[in-house]
Amino acid sequence: MASIKKIGIITSGGDCGGLNAVIKGVARQAYSYGIESVVIPNGYAGLYNLADMQDVVTLNAERVSKIEASLAGSEAGHSRVKISKIKDPNAYARIKEGLKKFSIDALIISGGDDTGSVVVDLGGHGIPCVHVPKTMDLDLQPYSVGGDSAINRIAQLARDLKTTGMSHNRVLVIEVFGRYVGHTALRGGVGAEADCILIPEIPVDFDVIYEHMKTTYFARIMRSDVKAGTYIIVVAEGIKTASGELLYDESAGVDAFGHKKLAGAGKYVRQQLEKRLKNDPSVTGFMKKVGMYVPGVYEIPEVREVTPGHLVRSGGSSAYDVNFGYKAGAAAVLLLLEGKTGNTVVNVDGQKIYHMSTSEAIKRREVDISEAALFESLGICFGRKAEKYIFGFEEIKVTPLRHL
Ligand code: F6P
Repeated sequence: MASIKKIGIITSGGDCGGLNAVIKGVARQAYSYGIESVVIPNGYAGLYNLADMQDVVTLNAERVSKIEASLAGSEAGHSRVKISKIKDPNAYARIKEGLKKFSIDALIISGGDDTGSVVVDLGGHGIPCVHVPKTMDLDLQPYSVGGDSAINRIAQLARDLKTTGMSHNRVLVIEVFGRYVGHTALRGGVGAEADCILIPEIPVDFDVIYEHMKTTYFARIMRSDVKAGTYIIVVAEGIKTASGELLYDESAGVDAFGHKKLAGAGKYVRQQLEKRLKNDPSVTGFMKKVGMYVPGVYEIPEVREVTPGHLVRSGGSSAYDVNFGYKAGAAAVLLLLEGKTGNTVVNVDGQKIYHMSTSEAIKRREVDISEAALFESLGICFGRKAEKYIFGFEEIKVTPLRHL
């Protein structure tokens, strides 16, 4: 076992659900081995500035009990700072000076792909680190804390929006975070029984969406005794055209990790649908048939975009993420003690702690679009011509890796 007396905890990148459970898991497991744990505040910004700090917060039993695991966000604070991008040739020496100042022997760092790449980088500079996967985008190889909370929030928000959608017979386009992958839009959208789900992995064909919208939503209103209906579209912020172009608002700029800030996908979808509604002569007939048509005032159904933004990763953590966070935080301590630095916790299943190298864990995982066809056969539109679900069977003889 490596001789570790003090561990520094860092959370980095975008905050999300489950992080406070990770912090508590680390602190309590460390305590059980007689190891002290401290918070290095505000992500890598805090790590860089540690040398100038007067003190750091020790996570003793009393301080840990004040952290509420069911709250999203992180008691340790966040920033989006990549150490290699800091304009200071002595950045790594300064970090080592800070760690020495507080006698911190090793780090447990929770974050996504960018954060993980810094874990690899710090390891290369001789700083022992273990990585706990965290991102609401779910784009890492293993499950990452925050994903389940975000999916539940998206599903709840989209479900809630149906009441206003129904009251005004609106088409609602809900744009959700997720960066370049569609995991949370897909799972949250299915969870809300959305009519249409648009994800970056499937190029968008607006004519297909329009046809689906007409056949489902128009029919829904016509069938209703009070002539009410809505059509819910959950759109991932990173959707693309067939030629791979991102449908976003370029004026949003880039973040501190150098990523384009994605915004505007929902607005783009709304504009495309409105254009088609205005140019479709059959829409007037529909509006008249259901008693909605008012000349010059209300000639086409309303399409509105809603952007929940940071709400999808705020508020509460799901119970699943608290479970995973606790286990992953505790397992990270055991990996450190075993000298398995440069590793990412994958899961704890019974007495086994699964882990993989952080450089592998941060490789982008996209949605397996072959599964979309299954949902298409259930009536959900993915902005492409519905495909036939191709499937096979496989009998499992041994228990596969479980999450719970
Ligand atoms: O990576 C997590 C994430 O929530 C993305 O889905 C989103 O694009 C981004 O963070 C938003 O970042 P910020 O909180 O810096 O605006």
